Amino acid sequence: MTDKTLPVAFFDSGLGGISVLREAVRMLPHEDFLYYGDSLHAPYGVRPVEEVVRLSRDAVQLLLGRGIKAFVIACNTATSAAAETLRREFPELPIIGTEPALKPAVERHPGGRILVMATAMTLNEKKFDDLRRHFLREAEIHSVACSGLMEFVERGELSGAALDGYLREKLAPYLDAPIDAIVLGCTHYPFLTGAIRAVVGEGPEILDGSRGIAAQLRRRLDEAGLLRSREQAGRVTFLNSLDEPELLARAEALFHLP
Ligand code: DGL
Repeated sequence: MTDKTLPVAFFDSGLGGISVLREAVRMLPHEDFLYYGDSLHAPYGVRPVEEVVRLSRDAVQLLLGRGIKAFVIACNTATSAAAETLRREFPELPIIGTEPALKPAVERHPGGRILVMATAMTLNEKKFDDLRRHFLREAEIHSVACSGLMEFVERGELSGAALDGYLREKLAPYLDAPIDAIVLGCTHYPFLTGAIRAVVGEGPEILDGSRGIAAQLRRRLDEAGLLRSREQAGRVTFLNSLDEPELLARAEALFHLP
């Protein structure tokens, strides 16, 4: 029987998954969370798939060694590459993955023009291809691979001329006609919402999957009888494969961002 007082693990290639963690803490304030960012190996999106599988497996093993009751892959890229393998290899561990919030975007904008921003790996893997095909007749779906964008968040650079220039260049080809929704298909990007908004204007709705993932985590813990009692407030602990105090400070800063 799994101990329900154990923390829930969150894993990402770096600091992006903190955007999902924030929602989970809001929804599950009595749980303890252990956030592990693999910034040493970031970005994942440009690595071979097998390497992302290996790094994700290493993360599960590391965190299982510390004692956890569930594992959230708070990374679209690692989910695309490794979720199926990890679920097969660790059948006892509840594993919750992430995918671009295309379904809610199509539901809210039927027939609309929708742009998905994600890493090349997320966009190229079967998981997203299946998702896109599923909604192909219900909306006009465009996708843009944003290599180099997560690095702005890793550096703590959430605004400024370089970021603005990057976004204007990437998004320009899609701005010739109105966009109804932009799906942030990488967990780093919600921290860049302000910068993206400045480029695309007030028109498009900007969506990410963090609330859905947090709700799924709550459901899975509930089904498994693993929700903690409501007696105490939960704690959040940050770990990173890059042992740099500034990085952990940046993680805390992103977590507490208003
Ligand atoms: N946060 C990851 C995602 O959701 C990061 C991308 C990367 O490491 O390349 O896809």
